[in-house]
Amino acid sequence: MKIYSRKELNDYKLSLTYDDISLIPFEISQIKSRAQANPATEFLGKRLQLPVLSSPMDTVSGIRMAEELERLGCLGVLNRFDSSLNELLENEELTSRISAVSIGLNTNEEIITKLAERKFIICIDTANANNVTVLNKCEELKTKYDVKLIVGNVACGSTLKDLVNAGADAVRIGIGGGSVCTTSIQTGIGIGQVSSLLDVYFAREEANLNIALIADGGIKSPGDIAKAIALGADAVMLGRMLAGTKEAPGEVIKYNDQLWKKYRGSASFGVKMKNEFIEGEETMIPYKGPVENVINAISDGLRSAMSYMNSFTLEELRSKNSFAVLSNSSYIERLPRK
Ligand code: IMP
Repeated sequence: MKIYSRKELNDYKLSLTYDDISLIPFEISQIKSRAQANPATEFLGKRLQLPVLSSPMDTVSGIRMAEELERLGCLGVLNRFDSSLNELLENEELTSRISAVSIGLNTNEEIITKLAERKFIICIDTANANNVTVLNKCEELKTKYDVKLIVGNVACGSTLKDLVNAGADAVRIGIGGGSVCTTSIQTGIGIGQVSSLLDVYFAREEANLNIALIADGGIKSPGDIAKAIALGADAVMLGRMLAGTKEAPGEVIKYNDQLWKKYRGSASFGVKMKNEFIEGEETMIPYKGPVENVINAISDGLRSAMSYMNSFTLEELRSKNSFAVLSNSSYIERLPRK
């Protein structure tokens, strides 16, 4: 069987996503227990226990989610759609418990100034970072304030230099891969998440650019997170995996003897509430209880992957560079059967 390097995966003839590839444990692991593997990382000047960011969506990242993720050593990115930003600005005490916020291109200047002065990491949350308005906004904020900026999203690395020149410190990678995203159906735009990530990764390496890579969208399991990090992502961004938890905004609904919570795309009708172009769906997902359980499961899965891959750190995991491309039957074989 051919063992693919990251570069060979990037040159693969078809666009690939997480279910198309797998990590190959090819050496004797020196790790005696999962606890020895440490998935902590430095991200935009912040120490994270786990390379996990929450999507800035109104059914994922409210104040409670951001606070709890901060406590758990992850990074919650507050959404810009509900009253969260106002609540944050009204309550100074929250400043130490929340670290990243998202804004849109129309967010009021006064709010942005306050957020920048309080040193929040700012995420310019747009569907397409390859847009002159987004780049101008990025440049404007970087010139006015001493602030770390996340921009997104991009599907490939062709414009990475422009983003870096405009002042982006991190980029969200993935268009069309989100689990409530209908962009590809509506527009025909987008490539598989693995290929997207690798294209941006090599654009960064080849031009020696200083920008953090966030694998955003389509991540379904701790295993997908291990794959994204092994492929070169600095962090992952999760929507669905964190939605439906106790800390996610919204009510728990009982239906058919089962508990549910709403999860919806930022470009869904429910968020926009007007007859605009819609690129997102709304759905109900089973209630999952405290987000801490999800984070612990991610931590266990990632540590276990690191142990298989003889990697004490995420840096080592990224250095292994041994992947398989799965046939469809190999993929199905990997799934548990009833
Ligand atoms: P998930 O983790 O697969 O559910 O994907 C979450 C990601 O989907 C977010 O971080 C966004 O990048 C993306 N996203 C959120 N809302 C929408 C939408 O309405 N349309 C397209 N993409 C979206």
